Amino acid sequence: MSRIAVLTSGGDSPGMNAAIRAAVRCGCSLGLEMFGVSRGFAGLIEGDLLSLDNRAVGGVIERGGTFLRTARSAAFLTKKGQERALDTISSWRIDGIIVIGGNGSLKGAHWLQEQGIPTVGVPASIDNDICGTAMAIGVDTVLNTVVASLNRIRDTAVSHGRAFVVEVMGRNSGYIALMGGLAGGAEIVLIPEVSLSLKEVSALVELGVAKGKHHSIIVVSEGFTPSGEHQDKKEEEGSAGALVSRYLNDTGTIETRLTILGHLQRGGSPTAFDRILACRLSEAAVDLLAGGAGGVMTALVDQEVKAIPFAELSKEGRNVNLEIYRLVHKLAN
Ligand code: F6P
Repeated sequence: MSRIAVLTSGGDSPGMNAAIRAAVRCGCSLGLEMFGVSRGFAGLIEGDLLSLDNRAVGGVIERGGTFLRTARSAAFLTKKGQERALDTISSWRIDGIIVIGGNGSLKGAHWLQEQGIPTVGVPASIDNDICGTAMAIGVDTVLNTVVASLNRIRDTAVSHGRAFVVEVMGRNSGYIALMGGLAGGAEIVLIPEVSLSLKEVSALVELGVAKGKHHSIIVVSEGFTPSGEHQDKKEEEGSAGALVSRYLNDTGTIETRLTILGHLQRGGSPTAFDRILACRLSEAAVDLLAGGAGGVMTALVDQEVKAIPFAELSKEGRNVNLEIYRLVHKLAN
């Protein structure tokens, strides 16, 4: 093992730069030649690689996004794209690959391993939907961004006595909504994992009003779909948050506003937690490859860094803890 390539793939997440930096510096310290691949698997297909040394990764630990850039490569799912990626690996004489990314990227990493290319995954996704690791790189930063946003929204919600529907990301996982809602003191959290009709949501808001609450924060995960008669209306309204907000405005006694945090959540300087996680997971990835082991993802398990075989990563992804859902609503009393 002498030449290792690092790539970031899928949605960017804060801490990816810290992970690249750690991989490059740990590799260099072992005397390995390190390379970066631009735009994830797309760059692998197009042969877009560059040599990276210690100085090339200076001043990036605090930067959000990924300086290697990223992509969701449809071409890598095709036979032609895959063949070209393998050609690149062989022409650049790459002995091992570190893939930093989420579930889709880890699937790509698994495929590379199956082709005989030693590959290690490093979990990075704001959604925290990767099974096998307690936290993925970027999650802590996005939660802090959501909480900071909820603090600001609460100021105006209190001032006007309004309900605010705040839509957050997470794809099919309610993790960001759940944990962000708990830390941000939300009255209600709506997640894909728990089924609730809009009538029930409205009843919860009105219950708060009856208890003397003059404002309300409802955090809605983008993947939430209401049960009952409105379950097909999400597309029509444009998003989960828009649907909930419209319904509350039309039927409730409290004026409602909508805020969609969107891609604001993905940017920003990574928190200390995400930087530390990135450094630890990347160091382990380099050590594994240098020791000849591939086919695994480095993961945070009980505060320790462990290697989880790709084959053990469940296809369903990671479940949210419904005890937290119960707690959010208990504390909203
Ligand atoms: O997976 C990360 C994520 O930010 C999801 O939360 C969201 O659904 C999706 O990516 C958005 O993707 P894009 O940046 O391609 O719009």
